[in-house]
Amino acid sequence: MPRPVLLVIIPLAPELLQPLESACEIVRWSALPAPSDFLRERGAEVRAVITNGLIGLPAGSAEHLTTLELIACNGVGYDAIDVEGARQRGIAVTHTPGVLSADVADLALALLLAVFRQVPAADRHVRDGAWARGPLPLGRRLAGSRIGIVGLGNIGRLIARRCVAFDTTVGYAGRRQQADVPYAYFDSPRALAAWSDVLIAATPGGAATRHLVSAEVLDALGPQGVFINIARGSVVDQDALVERLTSGGIAAAGLDVFADEPNVPAPLLAMSQVVLTPHIASATHETRRAMGELVVANVAAWAEGRPLPTPVP
Ligand code: DGY
Repeated sequence: MPRPVLLVIIPLAPELLQPLESACEIVRWSALPAPSDFLRERGAEVRAVITNGLIGLPAGSAEHLTTLELIACNGVGYDAIDVEGARQRGIAVTHTPGVLSADVADLALALLLAVFRQVPAADRHVRDGAWARGPLPLGRRLAGSRIGIVGLGNIGRLIARRCVAFDTTVGYAGRRQQADVPYAYFDSPRALAAWSDVLIAATPGGAATRHLVSAEVLDALGPQGVFINIARGSVVDQDALVERLTSGGIAAAGLDVFADEPNVPAPLLAMSQVVLTPHIASATHETRRAMGELVVANVAAWAEGRPLPTPVP
């Protein structure tokens, strides 16, 4: 019996994939001399794919993957994967919830502190020799701030806990009020923004949350407001964000995600009140390993006909 073909679209350490070698023929997308020839000639043999939530399936591949049974997503977000379409074709989709939540929450706090205490500018001030010529302009105190979290899922809850430890007050907006949290609930992102000093986006991406942080929400946040995004670039109206940061409509931002990664709007690059990171919220050795292991656990379960550990709900 030939082993089913597992197509690996994203870079993944060989030692992570090793446990799958006896069950699957592993084909790495990046090693294919002509990916479109492979899809045409062997696409019908591909029974499982490992990808991530930003890439999904390669454009034009779906029609060739006629016996596909599993899409294993290396990430909690799966916005580039047509989950409903997959369901209709009987294809299971899995993701990696839980294992990255703490790191993503940490980065939200890192951005928050970096913005309030001007950490990148302070670092430049020392390195550039500017310290001897005078002090850095004063920063802003985080303690006592009101932090509004848009989306109180696993990641949002860990952000909230960390924010409370920094002596801030937390509020949130989401699809519904949650009975087991002590934070103030607001029934819209706009109402939350009007209350908040800081608005943190922590929702999934995808059509349902596209531009949830709209121009109107940013206006409600106001000229002293800070916006932090560790969710997806699509969650905020990026043009409106750039315009508000340029005009002083909001004060500052910390951004790990962008509408068209890796492209970042040029005006943001020139703004000292904006801290930018290159989508690194889950990028630690420990978490990337745990994510890879969970992806492999899902593929192994599929290959052995066991229940999938973390299917997309
Ligand atoms: C996720 O898991 O969706 C992250 O954005 C990947 O780093």
